[in-house]
Amino acid sequence: MRIAPETVALINQQADIIEVVQDFVSLKKKGTNYTACCPFHNEKTPSFSVSPSKGIYKCFGCGKGGDSIGFVMDIENYSYVEALKYLAKKYNIELKTDENQTDEELAEQKERESIHIAMEFAQNYFKDLLTHSEMGQAIGLSYFKERGFKMPVIEKFQLGYSLAEWDGLLKTAENKGFSRDILEKAGLILQRENKAYDRFRERVMFPIHNVSGKPIAFGARILKNDPKQPKYLNSPETAVYHKSRVLYGIFQAKKSIRELDNCYLVEGYTDVVSLHQASIENVVASSGTSLTVEQIQLIRRFTENVTVLYDGDNAGIKASLRGIDLILAQGLNVKVVIFPDGEDPDSYLKKVGTTSFQKYLQEENQDFITFKANLYQNEAKKDPLKRAEMIKEVVQSIIKIPDEIKRRVFFQECSQLLGIDEQTLLTEGNNLLRQEKFAAPQPILPQKQPTEDAQEDTQYAEEEKLSPVYAQEKAIIRLMMRYPDFVLEDTSTKIGDFFYQELKDIQFENDLFREVFEALYKAQKDAPGFQSQVFIQNAAASWKGLLVDLMSERFELSPQWKEKHLIHIPTERETLGNSVREHVLRMKMNHLQKLIKENTRQLQEAKTEEEQIKAMSIGLRLKQILQQIAGHLNNTILKT
Ligand code: GTP
Ligand code: MN
Repeated sequence: MRIAPETVALINQQADIIEVVQDFVSLKKKGTNYTACCPFHNEKTPSFSVSPSKGIYKCFGCGKGGDSIGFVMDIENYSYVEALKYLAKKYNIELKTDENQTDEELAEQKERESIHIAMEFAQNYFKDLLTHSEMGQAIGLSYFKERGFKMPVIEKFQLGYSLAEWDGLLKTAENKGFSRDILEKAGLILQRENKAYDRFRERVMFPIHNVSGKPIAFGARILKNDPKQPKYLNSPETAVYHKSRVLYGIFQAKKSIRELDNCYLVEGYTDVVSLHQASIENVVASSGTSLTVEQIQLIRRFTENVTVLYDGDNAGIKASLRGIDLILAQGLNVKVVIFPDGEDPDSYLKKVGTTSFQKYLQEENQDFITFKANLYQNEAKKDPLKRAEMIKEVVQSIIKIPDEIKRRVFFQECSQLLGIDEQTLLTEGNNLLRQEKFAAPQPILPQKQPTEDAQEDTQYAEEEKLSPVYAQEKAIIRLMMRYPDFVLEDTSTKIGDFFYQELKDIQFENDLFREVFEALYKAQKDAPGFQSQVFIQNAAASWKGLLVDLMSERFELSPQWKEKHLIHIPTERETLGNSVREHVLRMKMNHLQKLIKENTRQLQEAKTEEEQIKAMSIGLRLKQILQQIAGHLNNTILKT
């Protein structure tokens, strides 16, 4: 749906940032501004500030900031349109939608709205049966009570019960005016030829809510022993329910996840409800399926920390390890807690009680990478042949972590933990990255036909002075050619490895330079006694002009010059550590500037407000990173 521009303008005009924020956070006046402890991150002294004159809020701790609409989006995790709707309601502004919508879009929107209403009805219907029907009380409610669910938690999750009848819901819904068509599209009934009947019968009902608390699907658990039927029956995918984008319990958990800055991830519906019953509210379930990127991104809207609670059987753990790499790849920090064999969070909680359970979570949680390293090391101890597999498995996870500093810490830690030289792990990491990057192994030096060679040589000469990126890329391979065994002091990384690790996400623009870079990296990594001369001798003819050029002396001051002037001009080697870093930072800046340009283009081409907002926030982030890098670059240059 598109909200009409005049409505957006009216909302912007009338929404008072203080009033809007005050509904969620209690503000204290301080000078012309208002402050509070930030609702978006955990803090004890207030760094969250709201400026009524500017109409914006800003947290100096976590960096979040924006206008009234942005605040509502952030605090409620609403989309742009949802936030506008919220504010329109708060300020009694009539919501006009854009007339540009096509008939088709309008029809789809109507259908989604109808499905939402039908699901809301169904949730109330099942809930009512649980507490008010004879069967619901006798079977459903007593089952929940037996599991330790008390009324408040049953209410909180809107749990319900479906009768044994074939058309209990269908009849009631039709009486209320719902069409069979919509009930079917909502996944509530099934239609075969002329017969229609309820999908859910004789089961306890777990409504699945979206982030804003609307019921969009059901998970339904059977209670009797019937091997012919599945234990859980779930709603099908509908226009409002996309399994891969939803996490069970996110609506009930989001506030607590944000406050505690951590999210527990469990497998089952009942685990979620049980943990709430024990006052642990920052918990969601993947509902038995493997995690998707969208689900991880959903968690990331509230926290960057995930703790996975595992049932204590080894087979299950190993099967799900790979899924966790996906969480790491999204930049989240992952911890794990393993329960004793045969226990799931729900059963273990019941066994030991709330206090011991919470203590267990506190004491037994371990970092995922460390956990994985230990797990494989124990295996490798029993079977030394598994050592290589162990290294690979652990490194495989580490290289998924996007943050280079965190990655480095884990390489160090695992090196100690596994008793394996850090360099060996780094090398394995680079190998794995390369394997992922190039499906087929690359030959060290390409063999080219002489005719092509001549062409490339001229191209190489002509392009030279044109672009800063060109000079930058060339400078990097030059340093690798000239100082092949230089080791960076503080990280003890070899020059080639350092460039390779730092620049692996950045594609060299110049094809020739890229090929030479890859080949140099490979040659230096494999052979400790790398010799530039030999490399040049063996190189394809098309490379020779460049390689010789790189080795020429023209960049260096002569020793005589130094003596004559009696001053110390640092040689290139003396400042190499810093210039290596400087080159990397410059490459990153160039790359970011490209991304920013691309982002500007996307912003111009954005068709909806959502797309615009998205592009804008990406642009903002890119610029922040650019500034950070510029800062690093200044520091590096100052040190030289
Ligand atoms: P209890 O056995 O009542 O404790 O339920 P649970 O939620 O702990 O279930 P379990 O540990 O057996 O399974 C974990 C999750 O996997 C469930 O919450 C469901 O989401 C899913 N699941 C389990 N069995 C089935 C099934 O037969 N069909 C479907 N679609 N999902 C299932
Ligand atoms: Mn269970």
